[in-house]
Amino acid sequence: MFNLVFTILLVSGIPVNDGKEDAHKFPANFLFGASTSAYQIEGGNEKLYGKGENMWDFSIKKNPFIIANKSNAEISCDSYHKYRNDIELLKYLGVNFYRFSISWSRLLPDGYSNKVNTHAVRYYNDVINLLLMNGIEPMVTLHHKDLPQKLQEIGGWTNPYLAYYYEDYARIVFTYFGDRVKYWITFNEICVGYGGNIEPPFLNQPEHAGYLCRNVILLAHAKAYHLYDQVFRNIQRGQVGYLIEGRWLQSATEQPEDLKAAERARQFFFGLQGNAVFHPDGDFPEVMKRRIAEISKKQGYLRSRLPDLSKEEVTFIQGTYDFLAVNYYSTVLIKDSNTTKDDVGVDKFQNEEWKKSASEWLRVYPDGLRNILRWVKDTFDNPEVFITENGFSDHGELNDTDRVSYLKLHLEALLQAIYEDKIPVKGYSVWSLLDNFEWMAGYTEKFGLFHVNFNDPQRTRTTKLSAKWYKKVIAERTPSVVDYY
Ligand code: BGC
Repeated sequence: MFNLVFTILLVSGIPVNDGKEDAHKFPANFLFGASTSAYQIEGGNEKLYGKGENMWDFSIKKNPFIIANKSNAEISCDSYHKYRNDIELLKYLGVNFYRFSISWSRLLPDGYSNKVNTHAVRYYNDVINLLLMNGIEPMVTLHHKDLPQKLQEIGGWTNPYLAYYYEDYARIVFTYFGDRVKYWITFNEICVGYGGNIEPPFLNQPEHAGYLCRNVILLAHAKAYHLYDQVFRNIQRGQVGYLIEGRWLQSATEQPEDLKAAERARQFFFGLQGNAVFHPDGDFPEVMKRRIAEISKKQGYLRSRLPDLSKEEVTFIQGTYDFLAVNYYSTVLIKDSNTTKDDVGVDKFQNEEWKKSASEWLRVYPDGLRNILRWVKDTFDNPEVFITENGFSDHGELNDTDRVSYLKLHLEALLQAIYEDKIPVKGYSVWSLLDNFEWMAGYTEKFGLFHVNFNDPQRTRTTKLSAKWYKKVIAERTPSVVDYY
């Protein structure tokens, strides 16, 4: 009888632990992974492979100085040629799944659905097949920042038609690869360059483009989800997740106005991204709708700068998830402010005492991971969760004890989230398998479990201490491992 219950729980994906719950060990069916994204590792930009230009290729060509040390991703880790090698590394770690992304402009060089690049189909088939042959489940992000340039030229994610083009792209991806891929994530961190000017397309219009981007992404996500439901789910039997950029936003003090401001900031950040999908009422959060409408009116606009979701759209988007994917790295402290010019009305900063990394935005605060999970549990109807990214940057040290310590603290926080807060976390994936092209920072900030020598034409990979440590963590299902040298 116990075996039967255990089997049912395993199949249902609810964490189980052999009946003997050990709060230092991850449940028997908990999944460990490692993450990458296409543009950051593939290279393979040579003409003969037929990849089309994406917004990063375009922006870097136009002004090479935007990337630290004028570097680029033309070769990067050369995973386009070295994927077999990468899969060996995944095997060494003993991961259950590998999270990677498909390059839209590699598959559909112009972004539109009329021209499919057969080299891309071959490449992703090879990767997926080899993973499966080695017992590693592919978890595929459909779109991770690298929009085809032709689509950027028509407004990118401010153009509502992108939702249709994305649906076409998703149809092609599901058709070619969905017989073998069982975990899909629709988007990863797309809107940064719309609200801000720190990456392409550098629009820097938080008050307009930032919101438009979120609106179109929600519609595009829901279209892909419904498409999967209607056409593919019955045959392919996979799951489609929606990803939230997670940065925990914590009140800097216990003052009521700061506590309130921190919750407002969370609604403006997580709520903007995920309320429409996960909240039982759907739509953008009430506090956002009200506040932005009021401010817009005072500013003389004839309508709110936050685009409306119609009743039909709210219904169309609500509930379109099989799981929630969370990327977590760090925490930001929040104080109420009536002097900031943004809509949320808060000051943001970090605690200087938190340990630093090589990235100026990333300081170590493991409780943030637990807090975020509690918040989504309470606010978003308790969805099943995958931690799809969590990692630490340094300058590429092989003896990366700071990374080991970061990952250990976060896995311990995750165990508390699972056992004490009863959050249904199904898996965890480290960012990143390899040192790679860290966007605007080029190759100056390293997140890999494996070192890559970017001066060597072979792009030789070397095992770091953190890889040896993570291998042991996976084998023993606990972050409290010793003797991993
Ligand atoms: C992004 C990755 C990036 C990492 C570290 C994540 O949020 O998805 O592409 O490399 O952050 O900056």
